[in-house]
Amino acid sequence: MKRNFLTILDLTHSEAHAMVRRAREMKNTNYRSDVLKGKTYILIFEKASTRTKVSFEVGLSHLGAHYVFMTSKDSQLGRSEPLKDTARVLSRYADGLIVRTFGQEKLEELSNYSSIPIINALSDDYHPCQVMSDILTIYERTPDFKDLNIAWVGDGNNMAHSWINAAIYFPFQLNIAVPKGYEPSGGILERALQMGAKIYVTHDPKEAVQGVHYINTDVWASMGQEQEQERRAKAFKDFIVDEELLQSADEDVKVLHCLPAHRGEEISEGVMEGEWSVVWDQAENRLHMQKAILEWVAS
Ligand code: CP
Ligand code: NVA
Repeated sequence: MKRNFLTILDLTHSEAHAMVRRAREMKNTNYRSDVLKGKTYILIFEKASTRTKVSFEVGLSHLGAHYVFMTSKDSQLGRSEPLKDTARVLSRYADGLIVRTFGQEKLEELSNYSSIPIINALSDDYHPCQVMSDILTIYERTPDFKDLNIAWVGDGNNMAHSWINAAIYFPFQLNIAVPKGYEPSGGILERALQMGAKIYVTHDPKEAVQGVHYINTDVWASMGQEQEQERRAKAFKDFIVDEELLQSADEDVKVLHCLPAHRGEEISEGVMEGEWSVVWDQAENRLHMQKAILEWVAS
């Protein structure tokens, strides 16, 4: 059966936990294999990327696969060839698509028309590869997730949505602090609460980080929202993760940022470069987690 990874909820609870353990094992053993030998994956990126593009390409090499990278600009997608046609054509050539795009519905359309697996490499709605890598970063430090409090400070965006999904499967308390008007999707939140996630939403960053073990943040304007930058900078001015905010957190608090970071906006230079920051491990873990995702998709 074809396996997609469009959101974390494409995994079962036990698959999500097994994937984190597997990625850790792959990291510890500097895993290389021929499991995808003879297979070709196509990366379709409609938005910029450093980490996701390179870590997928390197991960595919580690597993023995070939890859082809394309953007909408240098393909017929940029000249309005329908996704449903692209999906059927590429399915005849390759063994999987890794797609960074805008609306989640584009991934769903690709999936409906392709006979090969689709991996979400970031959409406007979710960034599941990143958040599974972040879960690995936490698992390395706090393997049982027990009595763990995590805060999200910033925009109720694609990253926040994937964290909400992660809170369904991993037993931490998630406090989300967003400015008024920038809340995460009500539907995504409601579903998570119904599925047992422990999530609290506030407009007060200080309240959200009270005693927490991890603080997560992300850019105030995501890709595709560049024209809102100025308006957002005003709305988010009290949502900077700086040394002062960390005073309210646990004394051993660690700070996560998916990167790229805008120092002086959502995160201070001092926090980014200080003892709290685990962002480089987080970035490295993209490689290990995505190898585990590729293995799962192909199994
Ligand atoms: N965090 C992340 O997805 O980075 P890139 O945009 O560089 O891929
Ligand atoms: N929320 C950000 C994440 C970048 C990795 C964006 O979508 O641009």
